[in-house]
Amino acid sequence: MKPVRFGVIGCGVMGARHAAVAAERDEFELVAVADIKPELVEKVAADTKPKRTYASAEELLADDEIEAVAIALPTGFRTPIALKAFAAGKHAILEKPVAMNVGEVEQMIEAAGDKLVVAVCSSRYWFHDSSQLATKIVADGTLGDLRVVHFRGMLKDGGPKPHPIPAWRVSHKLNGGGFWVNWACYDLGYLMGITGWQLKPKTVLAQTFPVADHLPDRVAEGSDGEEHAIVLIRCENGTILQLERGESLSIDTESTWQIIGAKASLRLNMLELEDNKIFLDRTHPDKALTTEIVWEGKHDHAVTMSGPLLDFASGIRNGTQVAADLERSLVMQKITDAIYKSAAEGCAVEL
Ligand SMILES: NC(=O)c1ccc[n+]([C@@H]2O[C@H](COP(=O)([O-])OP(=O)(O)OC[C@H]3O[C@@H](n4cnc5c(N)ncnc54)[C@H](O)[C@@H]3O)[C@@H](O)[C@H]2O)c1
Repeated sequence: MKPVRFGVIGCGVMGARHAAVAAERDEFELVAVADIKPELVEKVAADTKPKRTYASAEELLADDEIEAVAIALPTGFRTPIALKAFAAGKHAILEKPVAMNVGEVEQMIEAAGDKLVVAVCSSRYWFHDSSQLATKIVADGTLGDLRVVHFRGMLKDGGPKPHPIPAWRVSHKLNGGGFWVNWACYDLGYLMGITGWQLKPKTVLAQTFPVADHLPDRVAEGSDGEEHAIVLIRCENGTILQLERGESLSIDTESTWQIIGAKASLRLNMLELEDNKIFLDRTHPDKALTTEIVWEGKHDHAVTMSGPLLDFASGIRNGTQVAADLERSLVMQKITDAIYKSAAEGCAVEL
């Protein structure tokens, strides 16, 4: 495959990782990196050796050698740069969550048209062998009709944070929301991917909770996003999405991802790196439920980081469907917007 001539906009935590993947992999040629902070450009350039560096996104986008970019900026700054990238004819991979709201995603769909490949990193956990196997098991009908797709990711309070918390992290204005948007896009990207993007969310009922009054330092000053969200979504065919995400919580850490069918169910672990297993629970007419381990092994963190980029490169060079394109991300953003509306108005919201 001819390497994708690539530029990275943003040299913070995630931009540095995208640049490192591009520098290592034959699928990419790292042409340039850019950031408005010169010290970060210098550090990433020293580590990844791009041909050129730039002090702004606009300068990088004017580089004709570059055909595709990663936009690794906080959500509040990303869409205007993505629109400039599309106007410059560049394919783009966007950090997650896709955008601040549905309006921004629709604007990007319109601007990107059908010639440019656009991928979103919310698919990050779907590229492991385990996820691919689970996707096949759902697709071959083993589970029967899907009843409930469920995740619950609860993180106990870990005490005061040892390092400063970025202002954007739990902010509606800068991030489009709080802990829900930071993490649930991964959970949803993973489970929507495994269920083959067949679910059509219709009615959303949600509640969100801010950081507890007695733990104000768990978020940056001025943060107005939630630390905890609980959501029930009825899909068109009656399948239920039952979702909960929270951090700095007054309950012990517990995480679970389940796909429950009429005939059988999958129990998965999106995040365990070392001793990961997928359980298939199955009912039978003539005996009680059986449980089988259908996959067991390690999740390689390198796959989590490189998966979306390699998928993006294949989308550009081979025309393959990317795991999380803008249309799929719009479904996820519609859920997020409906969650905040439902929580604010105290009633169910129709999509
Ligand atoms: N930090 C993580 O662990 C992590 C993990 C996965 C995904 N993400 C997502 O990645 C995105 C970025 O997060 P991050 O942690 O890398 O942020 P960061 O603050 O470390 O980096 C963002 C960088 O963007 C630069 N920037 C801002 N505006 C710019 C502009 N107009 N032109 C060029 N550079 C500009 C900033 O100077 C900064 O260096 C967020 O949406 C986040 O949700 C973060």
